[in-house]
Amino acid sequence: MKTYRVGIAGLGFIGAAHIDAVRRIENAELVALADVVDVEAKAARLNIPQAYRDYREMCDRAGIDVLHICTPNDTHFEIALYAMERGIHVLCEKPFMHDVEQARTAVALARAAGVRNAVNHHNRFYPAPNNLKHLVADGELGEIVSVHGGYVQDWLVRETDFNWRLLSKNTGKTMVTADIGSHWMDLAEFITGRRIVQVFAEFACVYPVRQRGLPGGGFEPVAVDTEEISYLMLRFDNGAIGNAAITAMTAGEKNHIFMTVSGKRQSGTWDSTAINDMTLGRRGEGNVVITKAQDLVHPATRPLVAYPGGHAEGFPDAFLQNFRQFYRSIDDPDAKPEYATFTDGLRNMILCEAAYDSAHSGKWVVVVA
Ligand SMILES: NC(=O)c1ccc[n+]([C@@H]2O[C@H](COP(=O)([O-])OP(=O)(O)OC[C@H]3O[C@@H](n4cnc5c(N)ncnc54)[C@H](O)[C@@H]3O)[C@@H](O)[C@H]2O)c1
Repeated sequence: MKTYRVGIAGLGFIGAAHIDAVRRIENAELVALADVVDVEAKAARLNIPQAYRDYREMCDRAGIDVLHICTPNDTHFEIALYAMERGIHVLCEKPFMHDVEQARTAVALARAAGVRNAVNHHNRFYPAPNNLKHLVADGELGEIVSVHGGYVQDWLVRETDFNWRLLSKNTGKTMVTADIGSHWMDLAEFITGRRIVQVFAEFACVYPVRQRGLPGGGFEPVAVDTEEISYLMLRFDNGAIGNAAITAMTAGEKNHIFMTVSGKRQSGTWDSTAINDMTLGRRGEGNVVITKAQDLVHPATRPLVAYPGGHAEGFPDAFLQNFRQFYRSIDDPDAKPEYATFTDGLRNMILCEAAYDSAHSGKWVVVVA
């Protein structure tokens, strides 16, 4: 099995999770890091052999086969294009791009360059929701009639909470919709195997002006042009309906994603507060909790269960499983990976933009893929 040389662009919150997962993959070798802030110190701290202040230099000099893009959304496009033009496979963070136009161009270029490409919608790789997906595909739930749930956090509750994500020039047209709503919508389509065809959205910008902390102390006011709360109503291509509460403004909720898929026979629920379990809801008999264990999950989900039942697998493990499928698929034409591709990333951008258009027009928006 070939070992792929890996470069990471951006070592903030999520870059560290990528490094952790890459180092656990059999056929990947982390060789280089690019960052625009303190890259030498960051690389030294994590024992990464090569450090670059410019991702272009890393792509040209480090001899990498695969690039992970872990930088703010507005930089994904230029970095992905530069790498793909040099035949480097790209695994990009979500939301895929800053806007739909960039996403379309990146999909076309990936196809032309013949590189493997993925967007890190890692929720697909927790065994519990993955198991639910395969039960739905086998018809265990019956015809799907609705999907509901949410993705809720509290990191923007205070007026003094600030991050690049709040500004459309960095984040794209939508903030919380793209930041975490993208995960929820990707998962809803992944689990149901259905496509969202219409979106109605209500957005709220709770603090149009926030107070950004200054390095020397004190604050400066910054105008915010995106939403922290996004409530979505959805119609799927089989007539099922859905809704999701997407917010970064619910105090006490750290990183909580939950989803119930209702079929005519049973419902299936995954809730990240019990991340290794999913529940089949039944009428006329008791509900069934299926925990992550080799002998309990669907055969198609078994490869995602790395430890025996009862030994928790969480956020770093979902990254590992996602990346493992990516690396195995590079040279395997027969691979049927479940990771989100750039095409899925484009679709997700279209959904986020449909939500934006709906929130600003007060109307249902038809999703034109
Ligand atoms: N999959 C997930 O669940 C998940 C979770 C968090 C973040 N993300 C995504 O990951 C991306 C990064 O988010 P984050 O929270 O890690 O941000 P962050 O601000 O913590 O880190 C970004 C890093 O990128 C560096 N950077 C900025 N511009 C750069 C450039 N041109 N070249 C190289 N490095 C550059 C910054 O110096 C910083 O170290 C975003 O797209 C975000 O949506 C995904």
